Amino acid sequence: MLTGKNLIYPTDFTVEQLEGLFRLTDDIIARPEKYARSCVGKILATMFFEPSTRTRLSFEAAMERLGGKVLGFADPASSSAAKGESIADTIRMISCYADIAVIRHPAEGAAHVAALHSFIPVINAGDGGHQHPTQTLTDLYTIRTKKGRFHDLTIGLCGDLKHGRTVHSLIHAMCRYENIHFVLISPEELRVPDYVIREIEAAQGCSYTLNPDLDDAIRQVDILYMTRIQRERFASQEEYLRLKDSYILDGEKMKNAKEDMIVLHPMPIVNEITGAVDEDPRACYFVQAQYGMYVRMALILSLLGGEEGYPTVCGAKMFEKTCVNPRPNGTVHCKNPKCVSNLDLTLPIRVKDGGKICEYCDATIEG
Ligand code: CP
Repeated sequence: MLTGKNLIYPTDFTVEQLEGLFRLTDDIIARPEKYARSCVGKILATMFFEPSTRTRLSFEAAMERLGGKVLGFADPASSSAAKGESIADTIRMISCYADIAVIRHPAEGAAHVAALHSFIPVINAGDGGHQHPTQTLTDLYTIRTKKGRFHDLTIGLCGDLKHGRTVHSLIHAMCRYENIHFVLISPEELRVPDYVIREIEAAQGCSYTLNPDLDDAIRQVDILYMTRIQRERFASQEEYLRLKDSYILDGEKMKNAKEDMIVLHPMPIVNEITGAVDEDPRACYFVQAQYGMYVRMALILSLLGGEEGYPTVCGAKMFEKTCVNPRPNGTVHCKNPKCVSNLDLTLPIRVKDGGKICEYCDATIEG
């Protein structure tokens, strides 16, 4: 059991813990009635500061199917964030009302901040263009089901690799397995961030090539992970319009792919995959989204520790957690303008890897 932990990065769980989570997912799919009352008396809070269909609704469905209850907001304008309340105070309050919280926020590192101030497990449902670990659990479960292994795979990642948090999380997770080759298919302007490249380079048994040509790359991959160009993350609409149709996967391109290749997509799909591909048996993105609910059921169960596990908030000891240090006179700052530490100036700077990397968003620290 993963009782009482948070999920901020997919690697917050060991490879063995992930396999346990996926075995639990198998069992939930096979015998859903066994789990129908597993979370009676527990409450899941959903804090969505950005739009969502799959992540929010699959979390809500997951908790309902476990017999628990759900509260939360889908529009930050209807929460006190609209009045200027900080993430730290928001999660302190949610901790009083719920047993487990899910947060999606446009600031990179926001879920990490929430976890630092929370009394209950926090799940990152997407923090800006940084990470999306529960999508990765869904992706991994789909790979396990459809390919039967996590090793010896060539994985093509195509589209907006700069802003695509699902891409960053999937690479982060796959770097722990043997003989993984990533083919990074994007325009130069939308290349993966440097910190993701550094992770691949540091991983034993992993390698990558940059190949902006989808027609060429599709021939060699075992998995093609398509992503949309993320309009909401562009500073310039002109730039978005120039790049938005960089890649369109259609029936013609699929003719050049391996017979057992699979196409994944975190969704939503905008226009980077044509309807003809939906009919191809290699297109797995709808079942991938369906698996997402079952994986999230397993995740909620694991973090709450089942019936004998994590105490409900009513039994928890409150307001003893201390984690905030005053920000040191602005001597250092994170270079990433979308980092939560640059959007909430009351947050202390936190660093890792010898002080060079921002703990919230993985960007470089400037001294
Ligand atoms: N995959 C995903 O995060 O979808 P939503 O934005 O609809 O939640």
